Amino acid sequence: MALGGPNAYRDAVNALWERQPVTGKFDVKLVFSDPVDPDPSERPLVERIFAAYRLAKLDQAKQDPVFLPDGGWKNVTESAYAHLIEGNERDDIDRFHYFLSNFGAWEQPTGIGESWVFSKLRASDRKRRHFERYKMPKLIQWWQTFESNGRSLSELSMPSFGNQGGALVDGHRILPESVFSEVNARLLTGFVDSERPLLAELGGGFGRLCYFLSRKISNLTYLGLDLPECLCCASYYLMMSFPKKRFLLYGEGDLSRDCFSEFDFVLRPSFEITRLEDQSIDLFINENSLGMFPADACRLFVSEICRTTMAFWHRNHEVRRDPMGNGTTTLVNREYPIDRDQFDEIARYCDVARLVGHDRAKIKSDMYWYYFRRKSRRV
Ligand SMILES: C[S@@+](CC[C@H](N)C(=O)[O-])C[C@H]1O[C@@H](n2cnc3c(N)ncnc32)[C@H](O)[C@@H]1O
Repeated sequence: MALGGPNAYRDAVNALWERQPVTGKFDVKLVFSDPVDPDPSERPLVERIFAAYRLAKLDQAKQDPVFLPDGGWKNVTESAYAHLIEGNERDDIDRFHYFLSNFGAWEQPTGIGESWVFSKLRASDRKRRHFERYKMPKLIQWWQTFESNGRSLSELSMPSFGNQGGALVDGHRILPESVFSEVNARLLTGFVDSERPLLAELGGGFGRLCYFLSRKISNLTYLGLDLPECLCCASYYLMMSFPKKRFLLYGEGDLSRDCFSEFDFVLRPSFEITRLEDQSIDLFINENSLGMFPADACRLFVSEICRTTMAFWHRNHEVRRDPMGNGTTTLVNREYPIDRDQFDEIARYCDVARLVGHDRAKIKSDMYWYYFRRKSRRV
């Protein structure tokens, strides 16, 4: 006879797992700051992002509605990113800059980070202690034991632009999710071999994976395609993190083959995907986003990715479907329209983040990654 509901078993398993002794000793402190005032010296960079955002919003309104956010993501955009939306509507760059300076410490869920979780941890001594004594040390110990190969914890650290919350571990600023971005970036580095690889990412959030990829592939060219709001966060985070790299934002020049030799980072609204040339991308990446798109948008983006890329890596839901409000649901991995006559499925594996990080022992831990490679060489 079952005692308690399924959550009782999950919570008991989690509690036991988290309390296994950690062999290494780590000094962990939660970091979550109050909002900061924008730094006036950033203004020229923020003006570029503001101009790109305003133009992207104008042009987004002229696109097929399939390119607009929908379902849960529409709600997230309208609530958490209100400072950007209102900054545009009121021509108020101060409001816009304030959000960019603080998106990593935002109390409302932005969908691209865990700031709202850190805010809750800060509010409760018990939860904060649990994070500092159990959650974060276990995660770091896992990385050190299986993934570090003797490398220092500095490999996991990220700059705090955007007032990022997270943890200070032995003096290194680390986001829990950056542990898995480091692991995935290393995996992806093995999938590209050109001297100056062109990687494209759809829905890259604020650029966490891109940040780690850039550290590992020094001559990387990166094309980031996203909704205008998240693109602002990625532009700000990456431009602040890599001040010497060359960035092309929306409205600053066309998306042409030439731009990829002139610039290191090309950041554009996702509706521009239709403008890419056939088979022009070395590796297209999508993490945790196609699985939340409406079905018609997911099909369109996957078809465009298959048209434009030589290889495709994605990490999305295997069985979980989210309702979209109009009676439809999101798609699961096996329903993505990937033409098996054109692409070989080289590898497929369960997402280690969901097994190691949290949510163990739940069928909802259903993220799998897939790696597809085009059969024919470039035309
Ligand atoms: C949950 S976040 C994932 C961010 C990042 N890939 C990660 O794993 O942390 C979802 C991403 O998909 C993007 N997105 C959501 N709906 C979209 C749509 N309809 N078209 C294009 N991008 C969309 C969001 O802007 C965001 O960057």
